[in-house]
Amino acid sequence: MKNIIFIAPPAAGKGTISDILVKDYNYEHLSTGDLLREEIKSGSSFGQEINDIISKGELVSDEIVIKLVTEKLNFLKDKAFILDGFPRTLNQAIKLDEMLITLGVTNNLVAYLDIDLDTALKRVLGRVICPKCKRSYNVYNEGLKPKNENICDDCNVLLEKRSDDTEETFKVRFNSYLENVNPIIEYYKEKGIYKSFLANGDPKELAVNIIKEANND
Ligand code: AP5
Ligand code: MG
Repeated sequence: MKNIIFIAPPAAGKGTISDILVKDYNYEHLSTGDLLREEIKSGSSFGQEINDIISKGELVSDEIVIKLVTEKLNFLKDKAFILDGFPRTLNQAIKLDEMLITLGVTNNLVAYLDIDLDTALKRVLGRVICPKCKRSYNVYNEGLKPKNENICDDCNVLLEKRSDDTEETFKVRFNSYLENVNPIIEYYKEKGIYKSFLANGDPKELAVNIIKEANND
């Protein structure tokens, strides 16, 4: 099974599809957004700096996220893993290649999840997340609602909103994502490992389509 590198705009469903692939196909999941939010929760001054950036919808520096991913990838190199939210700049993509070569990891699929701003905005305004397992729910979608209002199905804790899930911040995040992504797409197209998927259907069907591609040698 290939490793899956998600490059997709905010709220395209990277976290949701990753949860399905972890539960049903045994993937390991590495989300830079989740790692950064953990740092914020720790209450450190570094976390406060990160919070100021994320709350404005801006990108954290390449240096910080590359360091975070380098540390974690060492533990994942012998497993099938998902990278969610990394790379987000061409520089990060180039650095990721260097890391993967050093670790001897060669079997990768870059999956782009294609979504428009209006659909993504609606999703983000309905999103609530579990602070413990990080699962994303959606109060506007019957299939993605928690069973009990505002409680995680798996962890039984109160669900939360993300500080960057406001309409204003979301539009900044979405547009800045699109500004950065084209060179990354071209980079992976040239390597022949890029595939785009429509992200506005059923999440389980989308996960199955991605797995078919990840199993395709
Ligand atoms: P990050 O946490 O990665 O946020 P993001 O990329 O903006 O993506 P999201 O987590 O918002 O969306 P998602 O695609 O995971 O969607 P989800 O599955 O939750 O990053 C946050 C911030 O950290 C960045 O803005 C940046 O500041 C910083 N950062 C992170 N990585 C960085 C990097 N590499 N470099 C620099 N800075 C970095 O789904 C969204 C909602 O839709 C949910 O409610 C879900 O239930 C629902 N949903 C999902 N799929 C469907 C479906 N098919 N149909 C209907 N609803 C659906
Ligand atoms: Mg996410």
